[in-house]
Amino acid sequence: MNSFIMESTEKKSRVPARLDFLQSGTGLILGLFMWVHMLLICSIILGKGSFNFVAKTMELAFLSDNGQGFPIAVFFAVFIIFTLFIIHALLGVRKFPISWKQHRIIVDQMQMMKHQDTNLWYIQVFTGFIMFFAGSVHLYTMLTNPGSIGPYMSADRIVSGNMWPLYIILLICVELHATIGIYRLCMKWGWFAGKDARKSRAKLKTLKNRLTIFFLSIGILALLVFVVIGIKHKDRAGERYDNHAAAEHVQADDKALETNILEEEIAIEKITIENPSREIEKIISEEINDSHDKIPAPEAEHDWEIKQPADTTHEVQ
Ligand code: HEM
Repeated sequence: MNSFIMESTEKKSRVPARLDFLQSGTGLILGLFMWVHMLLICSIILGKGSFNFVAKTMELAFLSDNGQGFPIAVFFAVFIIFTLFIIHALLGVRKFPISWKQHRIIVDQMQMMKHQDTNLWYIQVFTGFIMFFAGSVHLYTMLTNPGSIGPYMSADRIVSGNMWPLYIILLICVELHATIGIYRLCMKWGWFAGKDARKSRAKLKTLKNRLTIFFLSIGILALLVFVVIGIKHKDRAGERYDNHAAAEHVQADDKALETNILEEEIAIEKITIENPSREIEKIISEEINDSHDKIPAPEAEHDWEIKQPADTTHEVQ
């Protein structure tokens, strides 16, 4: 009895609250990052060119003279996100039910309360646990291959590199975790509460569900587009889009040139067929001109004579 009273008079530590604040802060940044990240990834739906443009812009290619990007920029971005990811996970572990007994209590409570937000919390724990592994694999891959982001390189990683199962699991986990997380932050810190808290809560919940469906749908669509590109590109896996685009460009130029020559030949042929006489005239005049060019001009003839040294030996006796 005495020790309990002793404890309750001790000043409560602010550390847990500060850790909660830090967890909310890192969660908010990662959640907003994920929405932007997914919109950028989904540029592949608009075509290889637009994804390549996004990838180059993320590599700050607009700062270089030759349009080549700086993968180091992506490396630092991944490094910062990976650090936030690890801090957020570390802070999140504090809330995990670490014993079977704790787990039992939560499940019993969920079944008893049938309270949606409590269920959402359980989804957070479960998706967070999966992302410890799936998210780390993805982030480590990006950290060690910052220059390998592009329509073909990404598609090859997903298909030829067999990353697609990981991306499906990670996509479902991160989109659920990010939207539920931001919804819970609004509830926890009273953001957008408005005059009628109950009403704004219902509105925020609807928005949360719609955002989850939106990001899951575009994420799955983008993954399907990557898979189609990756299957078509299997025999040239590892080829960069830029080189391929450049090669295609040269080919197109060659083709255009060939077509031009062909068109010209057809045109000449057409003229020949339509106006044989004129043609013949033309050939003749060209011939004449040619022959004219070959006949040295009379002066020149005379010049030649002058130039010849007089052959004194042969003078007629
Ligand atoms: C700065 C850090 C990050 C970068 C540069 C990055 C980059 C990329 C890139 C380029 C892709 C396309 C596929 C590929 O090339 O392999 C991708 C896909 C994906 N990333 Fe990230 N990512 C980052 C952080 C994260 C984080 C923290 C998560 C979640 C924990 C995540 C989840 C995903 C998912 C789920 C996909 C598949 C997208 C889809 O389904 O269409 N990414 N990421």
